[in-house]
Amino acid sequence: MILAVESSCDETSVAIVNDSQVLSNVISSQYFHSKYGGVIPELASRAHLKTISKITKESLNIANVQISDISAVAVTNSPGLAGSLIVGTSFAKGFALSNRLPIIPVNHIEGHLYSGFLQDSSIKFPVISMVISGGHTAIFLVNSFNDYTMIGSTKDDAAGEAFDKIAKLIGLDYPGGPLIDKYAKNGNPQKYDFPRPMIYENNFNFSFSGLKTSVRYFIHKNFPNGISKTELNDICASAQQAIVDVLVKKVINAAKKNKINTIIISGGVSSNTKLRSDLNTISTKNGIKAIAPELSYCVDNAAMIGFIGELKFNENPNFYNSLTFTVNSNQLRAKK
Ligand code: KG4
Ligand code: ZN
Repeated sequence: MILAVESSCDETSVAIVNDSQVLSNVISSQYFHSKYGGVIPELASRAHLKTISKITKESLNIANVQISDISAVAVTNSPGLAGSLIVGTSFAKGFALSNRLPIIPVNHIEGHLYSGFLQDSSIKFPVISMVISGGHTAIFLVNSFNDYTMIGSTKDDAAGEAFDKIAKLIGLDYPGGPLIDKYAKNGNPQKYDFPRPMIYENNFNFSFSGLKTSVRYFIHKNFPNGISKTELNDICASAQQAIVDVLVKKVINAAKKNKINTIIISGGVSSNTKLRSDLNTISTKNGIKAIAPELSYCVDNAAMIGFIGELKFNENPNFYNSLTFTVNSNQLRAKK
């Protein structure tokens, strides 16, 4: 029985995972950052500190387990905001020490990479896994639970960052992704022709900063006096379609080129409605199975950390007795 803690950015989450089954997965999102237009690291750390004990109790209650039932603690130690990671790891270390439990540091990206398995335990390796969030956009070729290679990533902005920056340009709050998704439902995705950066390049890399700049010029030129409701819907639908087209094309190409018939998507952007439906349609046409986990496993969550933590622990149960590991805010590692 694993108690897992995730606090790498602006979600505090504690989960109980047993035998790859999620018994609870409590997520507390720090919505207050929206008034600042982005995550303020210092405020994020303080909010984690305020919430973490409470949601740990809640998670234990929902799972209906006692602290004495827990056999190990798993915690995200990289990558992420240093202060936020320090709150989660310090809490997890305290919990482990006071209850004499082993502690397993887990890479957040590995959590996302394998989160499709929480949804569908019958997935067979190899798979192509695409992690798309506010901080990351990358495609991985995954051969097993401890063998994966990053085969493409963004050269500049992450997909979620593109959603958030475009949303800001058209006057929407942070985080903009869910709002663009919402308004796009009433808009015409073919109305405005925004660029699809790198879509025809024969690689699995991305670049989204040019798209954002193009939306900026487009708005200055065409809507100097403001944007009507209909225009807003159409801009959301058209910009969203540009991002979705690139993500779908690249991940399908990655699967085809590597002769793989399973794709997993994860990270906040994978909750996008249009992405999920387009990927589903196009992968079915190509004989590929696409797995988009339920929303609570797409966003930052502790269940995915517990899932990987448990596998690591079972592989090497005597290895995780040290409290000396530190946090590391660095981004993706290219190869493990
Ligand atoms: O994985 P996540 O919760 O946090 C990290 O960045 O690690 O992802 C957050 C990102 C934000 O950029 C947000 O705008 C985007 O995911 N996002 C979405 C949607 N829901 C969240 N983007 C597009 N459509 C959505 N429905
Ligand atoms: Zn994440």
